[in-house]
Amino acid sequence: MHAAASKFDAYWMPFTANRDFKKNPRLITGAKGHYYTAADGSRIYDTFSGLWTSGVGHCHPKIVEAVQQQVASLDYCMAFQMGHEKAFALAERVVGLAPDGFSNCFFTNSGSESVDTALKIALAYHRARGEGNRTRLIGREKGYHGVNFGGMSVGGIVPNRKVFSANLIPGVDHLRHTLDLEHNAFSRKQPEWGAHLADDLERLAQLHDGSNIAAVIVEPVAGSAGIIPPPVGYLEKLREICDRHGILLIFDEVITAFGRVGKAFGAERFGVIPDIITTAKGLTNGVVPMGAVLVQKHIHDAIVQGPEHMIELFHGYTYSGHPVAAAAGLAVMDVYDDEGIFEQATALEPIFEDILHSFADHEKVIDVRNFGLMGMIDLAPREGAPGARGLEAHKKCFWDEHLIVRNGMDGLQLSPFLNSDVDEMQKSFEAIRRVIDSVD
Ligand SMILES: Cc1ncc(COP(=O)(O)O)c(C=O)c1O
Repeated sequence: MHAAASKFDAYWMPFTANRDFKKNPRLITGAKGHYYTAADGSRIYDTFSGLWTSGVGHCHPKIVEAVQQQVASLDYCMAFQMGHEKAFALAERVVGLAPDGFSNCFFTNSGSESVDTALKIALAYHRARGEGNRTRLIGREKGYHGVNFGGMSVGGIVPNRKVFSANLIPGVDHLRHTLDLEHNAFSRKQPEWGAHLADDLERLAQLHDGSNIAAVIVEPVAGSAGIIPPPVGYLEKLREICDRHGILLIFDEVITAFGRVGKAFGAERFGVIPDIITTAKGLTNGVVPMGAVLVQKHIHDAIVQGPEHMIELFHGYTYSGHPVAAAAGLAVMDVYDDEGIFEQATALEPIFEDILHSFADHEKVIDVRNFGLMGMIDLAPREGAPGARGLEAHKKCFWDEHLIVRNGMDGLQLSPFLNSDVDEMQKSFEAIRRVIDSVD
C-alpha cells in the first residue's frame, strides 16, 4: 500500500498548482450567503460567486430544503427509457426562460458535457436533413468550452490545448479573438472596435465552402480567458453570416445564462438569437452538478423522427436529469423569480462597473473590462514571470484580506453575487486595492 506523506497527497486538484497549494492549503469548511468559512474559522467574502456558479449566494434555505427532501424521497432514477416528473418540469421551466423558438432541453452534468452534447446535436441535425457533409466546426481563439475533446478542440486557450494538440478533433477552425488593448483597453461594456473580426467566419465559409460547415460556437462574453465582451455589432454579424451559409450558431452560455448579464440568457441581452444554447453553473446555483443544452424546435424535430420504437439520438449520461439536481434546479428557478434576482443583477451592473473602472488609473493596471456582473482587472505582468503577480494577489486576498478573488494569469476576475450587498461589494474592492498596491 502507498503511504501518503500528507493527507493532501491523494487528491489531484483540477486547474490548480497542486504542489504550491499543498504547501499551505487554502481550505474552506462552510458557506452561508455571501461568505465562506475558512479552516481557521475566519469569514471569507466570495467575490466570485463560487466559480461563476452560486449567483444567489451559498446554502440558500429554499434550495437546501428542496435537495434534502429530494434525496430522502427519490435519490436516483434510471435515466434511459425511464423518467421522473422533476426533470420534465425543470426542462419546461428552463425552455420557458429561453428566447422564442426554443423548445427542448437536453440535460448533462457540466458545462464541458453541454458543449460536447451541443456539437453532437449540430452534427446529428445536419445529417438528419441529408447534409451529412456539414462536419466542420468553428470556434474562436481564447474561447473556453470546457475540457472534453470536442470543447477543447473548438476552444482557443493555448495551455489547455498544447499537450493534446495531435489528438484534437479534426476539421476545426478558429475565428480570431476580439481582445486588442491597443483599440479596446478600458472600454465599458462592449467595445466599439472589432465587429469586422466576425468576417473571419465569412472567410472560412469561402475557404471551405459554407456548405461544409456545421456550426460555430462562441461565448457571447468570453469568460475564462478574462471577460472579453463582444464588440458592438459583432454577434449580429456572426448571426448574419451563419444565416447566409446555413451554419448553426451555438452560444456557450455556461457563464452568461441565468442572470449573470442581467437577463435569463445573454442571447436575450444582446438581442441575437442562436440555434443552440449551452448552460450549467447557474442552472442549479452550483449546488448539484448539472448542465443543459437548449435547442430550437426545428433542430429537435429534425432529429427526433423515424420509427417510434427507436432511440432517436444515441447520446446521454447516466446522470442526465438526475432527480436531486432537478429538484435543486426547480428551487433555483423559484428563487430567481420570487426574489427578482435578474432585476437585482441589472440594478447592480452600473455600480459594479463604476467601482471596477475606478482601478483604471492604477499604475499596475493595464486594462479593465466588464459586462453584466462579469469584470476583470488586468495587472501588468511582472518582468520575466507572467502570472506570478496575479497568483500572489489571489493568495494575499485570501490570507490578508479574507477574500476569494480569482486570478487568471495576471488578471483578477470578478463575478459578484447577483444579489450582492453594495456595501460589502465596495469593501471587497477596497481590500483588492490594498492588495494591488502591495504586491510587487
Ligand atoms: C463558457 C464555458 N463553457 C464550458 C465550461 C466548462 O464547464 P465545466 O467546468 O462545468 O465542465 C465553462 C467553465 O467555466 C465555461 O465557462
